[in-house]
Amino acid sequence: MAATARAPDTIRRLGGGGPRRIAENAGLVITHGEGAHLVDTEGRRYLDFATAMGVAAIGHGHPRWTEALSRQAGRLAACVLHTPEHAEYLEALAEVLPAGLERAALYSGGTEAVEVAVRLAQSVTGRRHLLSFTTGFHGKSTGVRFTGHRHADERSWLGVDWVHDVDYPICAGHDAISYPECAGDGAAALDALDEYAAGLEGGVAAVIVEPILGTAGNLPPERHFLRALRELCSRRGWLLIDDESITGFGRLGTVFAASWYDVAPDILVLGKAIGGGYPLSGVAAGSELWDNSLFAEPSATSSSYGANPVACAAGLAVLDIVTGDGFLENVRGTGARLAAGLRDLETESPYVAATRGVGLMLGFDLVDPETGGLAGPELSQRLFLSCLEHGLLVAQVPRVRLNAPLTLGAEEADAALEALAAALAPGAVRG
Ligand SMILES: Cc1ncc(COP(=O)(O)O)c(C=O)c1O
Repeated sequence: MAATARAPDTIRRLGGGGPRRIAENAGLVITHGEGAHLVDTEGRRYLDFATAMGVAAIGHGHPRWTEALSRQAGRLAACVLHTPEHAEYLEALAEVLPAGLERAALYSGGTEAVEVAVRLAQSVTGRRHLLSFTTGFHGKSTGVRFTGHRHADERSWLGVDWVHDVDYPICAGHDAISYPECAGDGAAALDALDEYAAGLEGGVAAVIVEPILGTAGNLPPERHFLRALRELCSRRGWLLIDDESITGFGRLGTVFAASWYDVAPDILVLGKAIGGGYPLSGVAAGSELWDNSLFAEPSATSSSYGANPVACAAGLAVLDIVTGDGFLENVRGTGARLAAGLRDLETESPYVAATRGVGLMLGFDLVDPETGGLAGPELSQRLFLSCLEHGLLVAQVPRVRLNAPLTLGAEEADAALEALAAALAPGAVRG
């Protein structure tokens, strides 16, 4: 049997740990990608609204990115000395980073970057506690996997007492069109956070936040929450870590969510879309943090793959694309087109509720028409497969995440809406 046909069995048999849930649920083997599409072994094409959980934000096989990678791979792929690619990339990145965060350390995965961000905050402040938000997600390493109220049993078993989570004020009652009118600022959640923090011996080093909860289902917070959180952090002397692993590099129609929400973080985590599919991540902060931290020493921030020339070439190509003519306008325009279609879908489909999002970070809940509640695993799986049969891969169910490629065109957006309308039509799946 050809390796492609055997792939699922081989991965289950030889892969460490459980295979990816979404791959198991889809049951497909993908041979390649073309722009906004994935193509399977049978030649069937799927609009890729999972984009490898936001990594493939410039779509698949973008010519500018592909050419930059191939050229650099043949020239110099790894080097422990200074390279022009590293310098050139830092210069380009500094142009788009929020004011005051012009210095960036480069890594190869989001979790690694979050670890550095947390250590930076702890070492600068001399305080140890980290506050995060319930159902947020920042990675799976020993330090950060306990953020967002994940693995709580393991956290107490290991005696990790410096990672905490408090409620995130999810915006209710606004879809992606009306969200800018949301007047909430998460005041109740912030009061609770403040009260909780007051009881932490040793003090709070930082609060880490996703501008929009991604893994939890593309759930935006109350519109003015991040500004209010910024103010609270400044009043208390806590550092604000803005984890833009998903929202960064154009997903909201601005380069960073920080500018969409008009908020100035102390530390910015960069990941996923930053490399367009090549492993790259980063932590950006101002000089006063880097120079007063454990990372000030030579080699203190380095890692084997950090700032390797191919990653820098990939990052530079992504930046070129994202800041190029019309790119962010396309995100905003296509996002608005999808948002309007989702509003219609919510009235027409008995399975769809709570459509939401910003730019091309959109989502909705799959509901069970019989109970009115969130769809259970079986119904969710049938609806997920129904979407696939109609040519659309969504990132997750039942809190559906729609992370389209940011290069999506109007016709592709319409095709995705047609697929959703057919896949989730009344009676589309039978019990
Ligand atoms: C907001 C956020 N931060 C960090 C991470 C971890 O990134 P990685 O999987 O590259 O380690 C993720 C991954 O989904 C994420 O969504």
